[in-house]
Amino acid sequence: MPSSSSIWNPELIARYDLSGPRYTSYPTAPQFSDRFGEDELHAAIERSNSQARPLSLYFHIPFCDTVCYYCACNKIITANKSRARPYLDRLIKEIEMQAANFDDDRPVVQLHWGGGTPTYISDDEKRELMAATRKHFKLLDDDSGEYSIEIHPGQMSVDTIPVLREIGFNRISMGIQDFNADVQKAVNRFNSVAEVSELMDAIHREGFHSVSMDLIYGLPMQTLNTLKKTLEQTIELNPDRLSLFNYAHMPHLFKVQKQIDESQLPAPEIKLQMLEYAIARLTDAGYVYIGMDHFAKPDDELTIAQQQGKLQRNFQGYATHGGCDMIAMGVSSISAIDNVYAQNFKDINDYQAAIDAGKLPVNKGFTLNDDDILRKTVINKLICHFMLDFKEIEASFGINFNDYFAESLERLKPLAEDDLISLDADSITVKDGGRLLIRSICMMFDAYLKPSSEIRYSRII
Ligand SMILES: C[S@@+](CC[C@H](N)C(=O)[O-])C[C@H]1O[C@@H](n2cnc3c(N)ncnc32)[C@H](O)[C@@H]1O
Ligand code: SF4
Repeated sequence: MPSSSSIWNPELIARYDLSGPRYTSYPTAPQFSDRFGEDELHAAIERSNSQARPLSLYFHIPFCDTVCYYCACNKIITANKSRARPYLDRLIKEIEMQAANFDDDRPVVQLHWGGGTPTYISDDEKRELMAATRKHFKLLDDDSGEYSIEIHPGQMSVDTIPVLREIGFNRISMGIQDFNADVQKAVNRFNSVAEVSELMDAIHREGFHSVSMDLIYGLPMQTLNTLKKTLEQTIELNPDRLSLFNYAHMPHLFKVQKQIDESQLPAPEIKLQMLEYAIARLTDAGYVYIGMDHFAKPDDELTIAQQQGKLQRNFQGYATHGGCDMIAMGVSSISAIDNVYAQNFKDINDYQAAIDAGKLPVNKGFTLNDDDILRKTVINKLICHFMLDFKEIEASFGINFNDYFAESLERLKPLAEDDLISLDADSITVKDGGRLLIRSICMMFDAYLKPSSEIRYSRII
């Protein structure tokens, strides 16, 4: 694992810090087409049933009470809790419809509720949603599945923690973002150390397996000093995993970000200092830098999966369970089944209308061909393990790596000259200095990137 001093070269970072995809899928979502329909999805489900892979389920609950001005998630802001009811009815209907297509005996080894804010719905609604899932899918009842939920610590009662455990969750992912009062005010997002601490006590009492916390750097009013303080407070709270996201300011794509006063955003050189400091401090505090924006304790399953070469990347970021088919339910969610991606309607009215018409609410999708699967494997290896063995790829795909990827390898040469990677006849190893720039390295293998792609993607750092 890199020490922060060895990965730090601001001049190279500036040179290679292009806007780029986060590769939670390959090909990435802009390639999805609305010509993809239910027929292709059904064919993929049949292939997936014949393989009998375990399942991973994702549920999107889009509602939030108030809006955080930085937010780039797919959400619906409403204080009117009754808005959730008609949506939940459709979500439960989608569970029934999806489950009818999949063989009953396929175990659900991974389950995630994301948002929006999944804890927005009432405790009874949470019980109802999980009961419907359990009725139609084979959930594991021995606590061995990885069942996680995103929570907003400023907007939930500590009494909900036992409810989450009772219905089967064993992992929590918490949005912290920043503890500084001025930053919180500038982004309209409030959660205190006391609230998080109280929740952590309850989480430990209830025997959850793991807690992950999200922080963001580059927010308005943040300085190196405020970030240092937030990091200390977070380390003290002792999460098992930490994400430190770069604030992606793209008001042309996310209208709510227009509320942010751009004059309050930290300058790029301050952001670099923040990142350098955070990596050094978190590694010093005992966290392993997994890659991209993720850190984990040495005994965390994410770290172990990386050491064992089993780390994956999916729509939730880095993940431990490979070899699953992911069924994603709810507005805007993206399934990954056999060799297809299928995305549900992004607009809640379109989503609900499709369900009411008795159709799976698929709006867009993509069927991967052999070249896509090959490139996806290469990108996944690089982004998860920072190492690529050409022989392994040649054995799996029956190609000559140096011939097939001659153009990509040529484009990688300057990165090798700059000591970000080492490139030899049969492997690529990402050096410590290249780890922060892994997206730029993966982009060399992306067959779909065009110059105009820049406006769709956030900058890497
Ligand atoms: C769906 S939210 C998490 C759950 C919950 N709604 C909350 O806010 O606590 C997922 C995470 O994405 C990150 N995020 C959202 N907008 C972002 C942006 N513009 N740039 C970087 N990270 C962002 C935040 O760290 C947030 O915790
Ligand atoms: S960050 Fe979370 S709580 Fe805030 S608006 Fe986005 S999804 Fe909602």
